[in-house]
Amino acid sequence: MSFTVAIDGPAAAGKGTISRAVAAHFGFAHLDTGLLYRAVAAKSLAGAAPEEAARALTTEDLEAKGLRTAEVAQEASRVAVIPEVRAALVDFQRAFAARAGGAVLDGRDIGTVICPEAAVKLFVTASPEARAERRWRELRERGQAADLAEVIRAVAERDARDRDRAAAPLRPAADALLLDTTEMSVAEAVEAAIAHVAARTGAA
Ligand code: DC
Repeated sequence: MSFTVAIDGPAAAGKGTISRAVAAHFGFAHLDTGLLYRAVAAKSLAGAAPEEAARALTTEDLEAKGLRTAEVAQEASRVAVIPEVRAALVDFQRAFAARAGGAVLDGRDIGTVICPEAAVKLFVTASPEARAERRWRELRERGQAADLAEVIRAVAERDARDRDRAAAPLRPAADALLLDTTEMSVAEAVEAAIAHVAARTGAA
């Protein structure tokens, strides 16, 4: 039987960490859907037409190096505005969500567009300052030099584009649990998410 957990939210709110922890706890598969857009973006930066790149995307493309850079993140947000790019990625995401044994998908439009019937929906947020600081630390830990003011500007720009686009904009589903992680530790946020999912599955 399939059991889908949809986790959406803006950049660097903690979706990835929470999604991986929920998947590990319940033994569900996990798909970071941002990677799909990042893989299309990397091809676009290399000169491909984004629509073509999205149609031709393979699972190997999701393992390409360099998908986590700030440059690819910005381009991902740009290609994600294109309806044809989004449409080309729908089937893969829905098939993943329907796999037996349960699946966690994180992104921007999982609870609203990709899996409106998901058993559990979470919308993870944090203040723009907290998110930018987390992203800044993350980039530094990966050895990528980053200026905090520039990261704050880039995160705000990406959020605005993701929120204001016409196709599948970033917004919470009406039935999503809002989880504001600004004042939470990672452990607290993970615990809250697991408790919410557990309440829906009946499992502990
Ligand atoms: O989650 P992320 O930061 O890796 O996502 C990169 C970009 O991809 C994000 O700014 C917008 C886009 N995206 C999207 O439009 N829909 C999704 N489900 C996931 C990501």
